[in-house]
Amino acid sequence: VALAAENHETFLKCLSLQSDTISEVLYTQNNASYSSVLKASIQNLIFSTPANPKPLFIITPFHVSEIQAAVKCSKKNGLQIRVRSGGHDHEGLSSISDVPFIIIDLINFSEISVDVEDKTAWVESGATVGQLNYRIAEKSQNLLAFPVGTCPSVGVGGHFSGGGYGALLRKYGAAADHIVDAHMIDVKGRFLNRESMGEDLFWAIRGGGGASFGIIVSWKINLVAVPSTVTVFAVPRTLEQNATKLLNKWQYIADRVHEDLFISPFLFRENSTMVSLFTSLFLGGVDRLLRLMQDSFPELGLTKEDCKEMTFVESIVYLDGFEIRESIDMDVLRGRNFPKRPFIGKADYLTEPIPEEAFQGIYDIFFEQDQKTNGLLVFFPYGGKISEISESEIPYPHRAGNIYTLLYYAEWGQEAIDDAYQRHVNMLRTLFNYMTPYVAKNPRTAYINYRDLDIGTNNKLGHTSVQEASVWGKKYFKNNFYRLVHVKTMVDPENFFRNEQSIPPLNLVK
Ligand code: FDA
Repeated sequence: VALAAENHETFLKCLSLQSDTISEVLYTQNNASYSSVLKASIQNLIFSTPANPKPLFIITPFHVSEIQAAVKCSKKNGLQIRVRSGGHDHEGLSSISDVPFIIIDLINFSEISVDVEDKTAWVESGATVGQLNYRIAEKSQNLLAFPVGTCPSVGVGGHFSGGGYGALLRKYGAAADHIVDAHMIDVKGRFLNRESMGEDLFWAIRGGGGASFGIIVSWKINLVAVPSTVTVFAVPRTLEQNATKLLNKWQYIADRVHEDLFISPFLFRENSTMVSLFTSLFLGGVDRLLRLMQDSFPELGLTKEDCKEMTFVESIVYLDGFEIRESIDMDVLRGRNFPKRPFIGKADYLTEPIPEEAFQGIYDIFFEQDQKTNGLLVFFPYGGKISEISESEIPYPHRAGNIYTLLYYAEWGQEAIDDAYQRHVNMLRTLFNYMTPYVAKNPRTAYINYRDLDIGTNNKLGHTSVQEASVWGKKYFKNNFYRLVHVKTMVDPENFFRNEQSIPPLNLVK
C-alpha cells in the first residue's frame, strides 16, 4: 500500500509538471465529487455497483494539453487509461478495469461547429450523437443530418471509432464512412491530425475501436442531405395478428425496398403473446410511403393514420421511444440527462432469412422465462449504401451479403442487479445458441459497438498473441483484423493502449 501511495504521488507530481491546469480537472478518490463524476457517464448500471473496480483518478480535461499530460504520466507510472466519451460500452470497458487505471472522461470535449455551406462539421468526442444532429438541424434548417445510431445519448467518441449506424444506414451507410479528418493524442502524447497520423492510423480509428490506438478528441465529418419532411410509424402486430408471417415477409423485402425506407421490427413478449413492433423512418412524405408499402409490404396493412410526418431531427426523438406526442421535446437531444439502466446485449448478422418455422423456437424461449424476465430482439435492415461500400474501405467490414443485423437486448429496473443479470444473461445466451444455425458463419460475425466479451477476450492484462485475439478480432473485423494489427504494431508496439478486446501488436516488446 505504501508503495502504491508513493506511485500515486509520483503520478500526481508528473501531472502538475506537465500541465498548469490539471488540478482543476483531476478527481482523486478523496475528492467529494469523485463518485458523482465517476457515475455521471456510466450508462449501464451493472458497472456502477460498489463491487466494480474504481479508477485511481478521473480527469475531465478541457484542454488537449491535459490529455497529453495524462498519457505521458500514465505511461511513465504504469497506469492504464480508460477513455470515456458517452459511457455506453456494453461491457463497461470505458469505466472499469482489473488493472490499476485512470479514466480520461471527455465530457467537457463536446463542442460542435457546423459549416452549412461546406456541408461539414467538426465534433468533439464527448458530444452525444443527439446533440450533434440537433445542432446540424438547427444550423441547416432541417436539411442536413449525420447518419448515427438510434439512441441519442450515445457518445461520438465510442460510436464513430466503432463504426456507428442507425436509421440512415440504408441511405448513407455508417457514421465512420463519412469521417474526413480527426484530431487525436497518440501513445507518445503527440497531437495528430489526418496528415500527421498518416492514412493507416486514420483508417484504423474509423471502425477499429479507438481505445486500441489513442485518444481521439475530435472528428471532421461530411454531412448528408435529408428532406424537410420525413414520415415515421410504429405498428404492433401480435401472433394472433399474423406477426410470424409478417416478420417472415419482412426478411425478404427489408434490404431490397427503396433506400429511403428503413423498417426495423422489435420482437418481444407481452403477456401470453409475442409482439412484433414494426418501426420505420421514411425519407419523404406519407403519400409516397404508402405507395411504396403497397408495392412491397401490403401485408402489414399500413394506413395513413398509422403514420406521422415530422422533421428528421424530431424523428430521432420519436425512434428513441416510439411515442408521438403533441410537441416533441428537443431537450432530449440537447441535454445529457438520460435514463440509466442495467442492460446486456449481443449481436448477430444474417446472410439468409430465418426459416418461418424457426420463429416458434424463439417464441418458446421467451415463453419459458418467468414473468420478471423479458428481452427484445431488434432486426436492423441492411441493403442500400451500407452494402455498397467495400469490406476493407474502413475496419467496419459487415457489408454486401448481410440482409440484417439482429440485436439481442435485455434491460431491467430496480431489481437486485445480480439476480436479474443472471436470469437475463441466461435468456440471451439461450437465444444466441438457438440462432447458431441461422446466422453468419465462419466467422459468426459481431459488431464491436455491441461489445460482447462472450466471443473471446485478451487476458486480464490485455496482453495476448495475435492468434488468440483473432478469435474475437475476426468476428468484429473479418480480415481487416490483420491490418489493424499492422497499424497497432506501427503506432503502439508496446501495447500501452489496451483492454480486454484491444488489438494486440505483433511481437510484443515488453
Ligand atoms: P464509451 O465512452 O463507453 O466508449 C466505448 C469504447 O470506445 C470504449 O472502449 C472507450 O474506451 C472507447 N472510446 C470512447 N471514446 C473514445 C475516444 N475519444 N478515443 C478513443 N477511444 C474511445 N450503436 C450503433 O451503431 N447503433 C445504435 O443504434 C446503437 N444504439 C445503442 C443504444 C444503447 C442504449 C446503447 C447502450 C448502445 C447503442 N449503440 C448503438 C452502441 C454504441 O454505438 C457503442 O456502445 C459506442 O461505443 C458508445 O460510444 P460511447 O462514447 O457512448 O461509449
